[in-house]
Amino acid sequence: MPFTPLAVPDLPVPADLVPLLTGWPAAASPELLKGLHVARDTGLLARLRADGEVFRTDLREALAGPARSATVSFPRAALTVAVVSMVGDLLGRYDLPAGTTLGGPVSEVPTGGVDRYEQAWHTDSTPWLRPNRWSVLGLLREDPALHEPATGVLPWSLVDEHWEGAGALPAALREEHVSWRERYPRLEPLHAPVGGTVPRWFRPALDAFLGGDTPAAGAGRELERRLAAVPRWYEAVVAPTRVLVFDNHAALHRGPAIARPSARTLLRFKVDGVPEAPPR
Ligand SMILES: [Fe+2]
Repeated sequence: MPFTPLAVPDLPVPADLVPLLTGWPAAASPELLKGLHVARDTGLLARLRADGEVFRTDLREALAGPARSATVSFPRAALTVAVVSMVGDLLGRYDLPAGTTLGGPVSEVPTGGVDRYEQAWHTDSTPWLRPNRWSVLGLLREDPALHEPATGVLPWSLVDEHWEGAGALPAALREEHVSWRERYPRLEPLHAPVGGTVPRWFRPALDAFLGGDTPAAGAGRELERRLAAVPRWYEAVVAPTRVLVFDNHAALHRGPAIARPSARTLLRFKVDGVPEAPPR
Protein backbone atom coordinates (compact mmCIF):
# COMPACT_ATOMS: atom_id res chain seq x y z
CA MET A 1 0.00 0.00 0.00
CA PRO A 2 1.34 3.45 -0.84
CA PHE A 3 2.24 5.53 2.17
CA THR A 4 -0.20 8.27 3.14
CA PRO A 5 1.72 11.18 4.64
CA LEU A 6 1.01 11.92 8.28
CA ALA A 7 -1.25 14.90 8.96
CA VAL A 8 0.12 18.09 10.51
CA PRO A 9 -2.03 19.13 13.51
CA ASP A 10 -4.33 22.11 12.88
CA LEU A 11 -5.23 24.92 15.25
CA PRO A 12 -8.04 27.30 14.29
CA VAL A 13 -7.53 30.96 15.20
CA PRO A 14 -9.81 31.45 18.26
CA ALA A 15 -13.00 33.35 17.39
CA ASP A 16 -12.21 36.19 19.82
CA LEU A 17 -8.93 36.97 18.03
CA VAL A 18 -10.51 37.28 14.57
CA PRO A 19 -11.94 40.79 15.13
CA LEU A 20 -8.49 42.00 16.24
CA LEU A 21 -6.95 40.60 13.04
CA THR A 22 -9.65 42.03 10.79
CA GLY A 23 -8.29 45.56 11.13
CA TRP A 24 -4.63 44.50 10.73
CA PRO A 25 -2.43 47.41 9.57
CA ALA A 26 -0.86 45.53 6.64
CA ALA A 27 -2.52 43.84 3.70
CA ALA A 28 0.47 43.00 1.51
CA SER A 29 3.63 41.07 2.28
CA PRO A 30 6.16 43.93 1.82
CA GLU A 31 4.32 45.75 4.60
CA LEU A 32 4.50 42.87 7.06
CA LEU A 33 7.20 44.31 9.33
CA LYS A 34 5.76 47.83 9.06
CA GLY A 35 2.37 46.41 10.02
CA LEU A 36 3.87 44.73 13.08
CA HIS A 37 5.45 48.04 14.15
CA VAL A 38 2.14 49.84 13.76
CA ALA A 39 0.39 47.02 15.66
CA ARG A 40 2.94 47.42 18.46
CA ASP A 41 2.61 51.21 18.61
CA THR A 42 -1.19 51.13 18.68
CA GLY A 43 -1.36 48.48 21.39
CA LEU A 44 -2.90 45.90 19.05
CA LEU A 45 0.02 43.49 19.53
CA ALA A 46 -0.22 43.73 23.31
CA ARG A 47 -3.93 42.86 23.10
CA LEU A 48 -3.25 39.95 20.76
CA ARG A 49 -0.54 38.65 23.05
CA ALA A 50 -2.79 38.94 26.10
CA ASP A 51 -5.93 37.53 24.47
CA GLY A 52 -3.92 34.96 22.52
CA GLU A 53 -2.05 33.51 25.48
CA VAL A 54 -3.99 30.20 25.45
CA PHE A 55 -3.63 29.97 21.67
CA ARG A 56 0.14 30.58 21.98
CA THR A 57 0.44 27.79 24.56
CA ASP A 58 -1.53 25.41 22.32
CA LEU A 59 0.62 26.36 19.33
CA ARG A 60 3.86 25.83 21.28
CA GLU A 61 2.60 22.45 22.44
CA ALA A 62 1.69 21.38 18.89
CA LEU A 63 5.11 22.50 17.64
CA ALA A 64 6.86 20.50 20.36
CA GLY A 65 4.88 17.40 19.31
CA PRO A 66 6.01 14.69 16.90
CA ALA A 67 5.15 16.69 13.74
CA ARG A 68 7.34 19.63 14.83
CA SER A 69 4.89 21.69 12.80
CA ALA A 70 1.31 22.94 12.84
CA THR A 71 -1.18 24.61 10.57
CA VAL A 72 -3.24 27.58 11.71
CA SER A 73 -6.61 27.96 10.00
CA PHE A 74 -8.75 31.09 9.83
CA PRO A 75 -12.04 32.16 8.25
CA ARG A 76 -10.98 34.48 5.40
CA ALA A 77 -8.07 34.57 2.93
CA ALA A 78 -7.82 38.35 3.46
CA LEU A 79 -6.43 37.62 6.94
CA THR A 80 -3.34 35.78 5.65
CA VAL A 81 -0.77 38.56 6.27
CA ALA A 82 -2.32 39.24 9.68
CA VAL A 83 -2.20 35.58 10.72
CA VAL A 84 1.39 35.10 9.48
CA SER A 85 2.38 38.25 11.41
CA MET A 86 0.56 37.18 14.57
CA VAL A 87 1.97 33.63 14.55
CA GLY A 88 5.49 35.01 14.09
CA ASP A 89 5.03 37.53 16.88
CA LEU A 90 3.71 34.89 19.27
CA LEU A 91 6.69 32.60 18.59
CA GLY A 92 9.74 34.81 18.83
CA ARG A 93 11.92 37.64 17.57
CA TYR A 94 12.02 38.99 14.04
CA ASP A 95 13.44 42.47 14.60
CA LEU A 96 17.10 41.60 14.09
CA PRO A 97 18.90 43.45 11.30
CA ALA A 98 18.38 41.88 7.86
CA GLY A 99 21.50 40.92 5.92
CA THR A 100 21.94 42.81 2.66
CA THR A 101 23.01 39.64 0.82
CA LEU A 102 21.28 36.92 2.79
CA GLY A 103 17.87 38.55 3.03
CA GLY A 104 15.79 39.16 6.08
CA PRO A 105 12.80 37.78 7.87
CA VAL A 106 10.20 38.42 5.15
CA SER A 107 10.28 37.04 1.62
CA GLU A 108 7.99 36.00 -1.22
CA VAL A 109 8.69 32.50 -2.51
CA PRO A 110 7.46 31.29 -5.92
CA THR A 111 6.62 27.58 -6.11
CA GLY A 112 8.62 25.60 -8.67
CA GLY A 113 11.40 28.12 -9.34
CA VAL A 114 14.22 27.55 -11.79
CA ASP A 115 16.47 25.16 -9.85
CA ARG A 116 13.66 23.74 -7.72
CA TYR A 117 16.07 23.00 -4.87
CA GLU A 118 13.20 23.68 -2.47
CA GLN A 119 11.50 20.49 -3.65
CA ALA A 120 14.15 18.39 -1.86
CA TRP A 121 14.39 18.07 1.93
CA HIS A 122 16.27 21.04 3.33
CA THR A 123 16.81 23.45 6.20
CA ASP A 124 15.93 27.12 5.59
CA SER A 125 18.67 29.77 5.85
CA THR A 126 21.74 27.49 6.00
CA PRO A 127 24.11 30.42 5.19
CA TRP A 128 22.74 32.45 8.10
CA LEU A 129 24.84 32.86 11.22
CA ARG A 130 21.91 31.25 13.01
CA PRO A 131 19.18 29.77 10.80
CA ASN A 132 15.72 30.87 11.85
CA ARG A 133 14.01 28.61 14.38
CA TRP A 134 10.52 29.09 12.92
CA SER A 135 9.35 29.35 9.32
CA VAL A 136 5.79 30.61 8.85
CA LEU A 137 4.26 30.14 5.37
CA GLY A 138 1.10 31.79 4.05
CA LEU A 139 -0.43 31.67 0.57
CA LEU A 140 -0.28 34.95 -1.37
CA ARG A 141 -1.21 33.72 -4.83
CA GLU A 142 -2.80 30.47 -5.95
CA ASP A 143 -2.19 28.56 -9.17
CA PRO A 144 -5.53 26.96 -10.05
CA ALA A 145 -3.73 24.38 -12.22
CA LEU A 146 -2.03 22.88 -9.16
CA HIS A 147 -3.95 20.24 -7.27
CA GLU A 148 -3.40 20.20 -3.50
CA PRO A 149 0.25 21.32 -3.60
CA ALA A 150 1.53 19.84 -0.34
CA THR A 151 4.54 20.97 1.68
CA GLY A 152 6.37 18.09 3.37
CA VAL A 153 7.79 18.28 6.89
CA LEU A 154 10.34 15.69 8.01
CA PRO A 155 11.27 15.79 11.69
CA TRP A 156 14.90 14.75 12.14
CA SER A 157 13.66 12.04 14.51
CA LEU A 158 12.00 10.31 11.51
CA VAL A 159 15.13 10.30 9.37
CA ASP A 160 16.25 7.30 11.35
CA GLU A 161 14.50 5.80 14.33
CA HIS A 162 17.86 5.36 16.01
CA TRP A 163 18.80 8.97 15.41
CA GLU A 164 16.79 10.61 18.15
CA GLY A 165 16.92 14.10 16.75
CA ALA A 166 19.90 15.91 15.32
CA GLY A 167 21.85 15.47 18.55
CA ALA A 168 22.22 11.78 17.71
CA LEU A 169 23.52 12.20 14.16
CA PRO A 170 26.75 10.25 13.65
CA ALA A 171 29.55 11.94 15.58
CA ALA A 172 31.42 12.81 12.39
CA LEU A 173 28.49 14.94 11.21
CA ARG A 174 28.49 16.80 14.51
CA GLU A 175 32.19 17.54 14.36
CA GLU A 176 33.42 18.19 10.83
CA HIS A 177 32.56 21.65 9.59
CA VAL A 178 30.93 22.44 6.26
CA SER A 179 31.39 25.74 4.43
CA TRP A 180 27.91 27.23 3.98
CA ARG A 181 28.69 30.46 2.14
CA GLU A 182 30.53 29.25 -0.97
CA ARG A 183 27.89 30.98 -3.08
CA TYR A 184 28.48 34.26 -1.25
CA PRO A 185 32.19 35.01 -1.79
CA ARG A 186 31.79 38.62 -0.63
CA LEU A 187 30.62 37.57 2.82
CA GLU A 188 32.76 36.33 5.64
CA PRO A 189 32.89 32.50 5.35
CA LEU A 190 30.64 30.52 7.66
CA HIS A 191 31.54 27.03 8.83
CA ALA A 192 29.29 24.78 10.88
CA PRO A 193 28.66 21.03 11.09
CA VAL A 194 25.59 19.44 9.50
CA GLY A 195 24.62 18.21 12.96
CA GLY A 196 25.56 21.29 14.96
CA THR A 197 23.48 22.89 17.69
CA VAL A 198 21.36 23.99 14.75
CA PRO A 199 21.23 21.19 12.15
CA ARG A 200 21.73 22.31 8.54
CA TRP A 201 21.02 20.47 5.31
CA PHE A 202 20.83 22.12 1.91
CA ARG A 203 21.99 19.88 -0.91
CA PRO A 204 23.35 22.54 -3.34
CA ALA A 205 25.75 23.78 -0.64
CA LEU A 206 27.04 20.28 0.12
CA ASP A 207 28.66 19.26 -3.19
CA ALA A 208 32.27 19.79 -2.11
CA PHE A 209 31.70 18.33 1.35
CA LEU A 210 29.96 15.15 0.14
CA GLY A 211 32.63 14.59 -2.51
CA GLY A 212 35.33 14.36 0.18
CA ASP A 213 36.88 11.23 1.63
CA THR A 214 36.53 12.03 5.34
CA PRO A 215 34.36 10.02 7.77
CA ALA A 216 31.94 12.96 7.86
CA ALA A 217 31.60 12.92 4.06
CA GLY A 218 30.77 9.21 4.23
CA ALA A 219 28.18 9.87 6.94
CA GLY A 220 26.80 12.71 4.83
CA ARG A 221 26.39 10.44 1.82
CA GLU A 222 24.64 7.91 4.03
CA LEU A 223 22.33 10.65 5.29
CA GLU A 224 21.60 11.67 1.71
CA ARG A 225 20.62 8.06 0.87
CA ARG A 226 18.32 7.93 3.89
CA LEU A 227 16.67 11.20 2.91
CA ALA A 228 16.00 9.88 -0.59
CA ALA A 229 14.24 6.81 0.83
CA VAL A 230 12.69 8.14 4.01
CA PRO A 231 9.56 6.08 4.71
CA ARG A 232 7.43 8.56 6.69
CA TRP A 233 6.87 12.28 6.80
CA TYR A 234 4.20 14.89 7.50
CA GLU A 235 2.35 16.96 4.94
CA ALA A 236 0.12 20.02 4.82
CA VAL A 237 -1.25 22.22 2.05
CA VAL A 238 -0.64 25.94 2.52
CA ALA A 239 -4.03 27.26 1.40
CA PRO A 240 -5.97 30.56 1.22
CA THR A 241 -7.22 30.08 4.80
CA ARG A 242 -4.38 27.95 6.18
CA VAL A 243 -0.89 28.96 7.29
CA LEU A 244 1.89 26.43 8.00
CA VAL A 245 4.55 26.86 10.66
CA PHE A 246 7.41 24.45 11.32
CA ASP A 247 10.44 24.17 13.57
CA ASN A 248 13.35 24.68 11.18
CA HIS A 249 15.81 23.39 13.81
CA ALA A 250 13.91 20.16 14.49
CA ALA A 251 12.64 19.28 11.01
CA LEU A 252 13.55 19.37 7.34
CA HIS A 253 10.93 20.41 4.82
CA ARG A 254 10.29 20.44 1.08
CA GLY A 255 7.95 22.28 -1.26
CA PRO A 256 5.38 20.65 -3.56
CA ALA A 257 6.79 18.49 -6.34
CA ILE A 258 5.87 20.34 -9.51
CA ALA A 259 7.82 20.23 -12.73
CA ARG A 260 7.41 23.80 -13.94
CA PRO A 261 7.46 27.34 -12.61
CA SER A 262 4.03 28.37 -11.34
CA ALA A 263 2.12 31.48 -10.35
CA ARG A 264 1.73 30.12 -6.83
CA THR A 265 3.56 32.34 -4.37
CA LEU A 266 4.06 31.98 -0.65
CA LEU A 267 4.80 34.57 1.99
CA ARG A 268 7.58 33.33 4.26
CA PHE A 269 8.26 34.84 7.67
CA LYS A 270 11.48 33.67 9.36
CA VAL A 271 11.43 34.07 13.12
CA ASP A 272 14.26 33.75 15.66
CA GLY A 273 17.19 33.77 13.28
CA VAL A 274 20.31 35.89 12.66
CA PRO A 275 21.41 36.40 9.02
CA GLU A 276 24.81 37.99 9.67
CA ALA A 277 26.89 39.14 12.59
CA PRO A 278 26.25 42.83 13.32
CA PRO A 279 29.01 45.07 11.90
CA ARG A 280 31.85 45.70 14.34
FE1 LIG B 1 12.47 26.21 2.51
